[in-house]
Amino acid sequence: MPYIVGLNSGSSFDGVDAVLCTIDIDQDGHPSRPKFVDALTVDWPDELRPLVIRAFDNQLSLFDMTRVNYAAGAVYAEATNKLLAKAGVKPEEVEVLGYDGQTVYQEPPDRQKIADYISSGSKSLVDLWTKGGFPCGFFIVESGVVAALTDITTVTQFLPVDHALGGSGAPLVHKTMAFDTGPGNVMLDHVIRARTGRSYDKDGEMAARGQIIEPLLAELQAHEFFQRKPPRSAWRLDFGSRYADDILERYASASTEDLLATLAMFTATSIERALVDFILPKTSVTKVVASGGGTRNTTLMRFLTERLATHGLKTCVSDEFGMPAAYKEAIKFATLAFAAKRGLANNIPAASGASSFAILGKLTLAPRLARGTENITSNDLFIDDGWAG
Ligand SMILES: Nc1ncnc2c1ncn2[C@@H]1O[C@H](COP(=O)(O)OP(=O)(O)O)[C@@H](O)[C@H]1O
Ligand SMILES: [Mg+2]
Repeated sequence: MPYIVGLNSGSSFDGVDAVLCTIDIDQDGHPSRPKFVDALTVDWPDELRPLVIRAFDNQLSLFDMTRVNYAAGAVYAEATNKLLAKAGVKPEEVEVLGYDGQTVYQEPPDRQKIADYISSGSKSLVDLWTKGGFPCGFFIVESGVVAALTDITTVTQFLPVDHALGGSGAPLVHKTMAFDTGPGNVMLDHVIRARTGRSYDKDGEMAARGQIIEPLLAELQAHEFFQRKPPRSAWRLDFGSRYADDILERYASASTEDLLATLAMFTATSIERALVDFILPKTSVTKVVASGGGTRNTTLMRFLTERLATHGLKTCVSDEFGMPAAYKEAIKFATLAFAAKRGLANNIPAASGASSFAILGKLTLAPRLARGTENITSNDLFIDDGWAG
């Protein structure tokens, strides 16, 4: 079975998760369930971390971003090489490596504009983005660097093709739904970092000692995000450092414990609300499977379990299904990359609203695959007119 590598750095920006798994093609022609082989997480280097954080707030120049993009590629390449050394697997045994790239900016679709564009009968493709309100995003971690420095064929940036096909617009059928419920860990991390210097509330210990600040919880729950209908994405401009800083300023006298408890309850209630508003009216659910680093925040998980139990729902963690919670996202990108490499559809139009099935992702081939090198001699000169063009 071919080895596949998947990497991920999510909006928590806590580190780069790298996973090695094996995936094959099943009898039905679809990718098989990935088998977990090995994994590790590397920290973002201290000199890069503040630059990427600045990029999230649009505070990094394009010139600086250019260097960060390449350096981030080197971080991913190092993580991959370290993982392969640990697992005793050679690059040539790995069929493909996949990751989505660090999202620096993401603009949601403007449904009203899309509707207006469609009714205008415009045939302009350019208008889709200049006037039509189609979604767009900017993702870093240069795949040329990753493919070159690992010598592994790399697939990245799964979203742009989906965006161009109208994904995240309004899907017509709701057989499968996929959308963001709201905040995760970012504001929790930001508050504990600002107040104590620690990067996260280990096992939710501080939050466990806090009391919910009801007026703050009510204010958080009134956020504009909750007016958006699925499919929808939440990211740092919605529930990020800036919003958390604003809360820290206005609730300066509140204890860190109380703030963390309130933010954990906010995450739990927004998951509950998404289920109640969008899922339970459509289908019956008995079990909710959680994954990601937030599952280790015991207080968050306690709040979530309690809230969901009021609707008769059982909460469990994806490890129970052989999917290590901490590496689920990285495994997902390994699977998407494998499908792309094999030319298999890897989107779900019914979930994203894309107009057709497609092969999401951009492919960069491993240098070792280069052929046609036999007849090139040092006498062959490649002449061009120089950098200035
Ligand atoms: N032991 C733990 N206790 C509490 N929170 C944790 C723990 N381990 C991880 N986390 C939380 O999970 C976050 C990382 O989760 P992750 O799934 O990697 O998110 P992302 O995909 O956004 O990077 C951390 O920033 C932290 O908030
Ligand atoms: Mg992470």
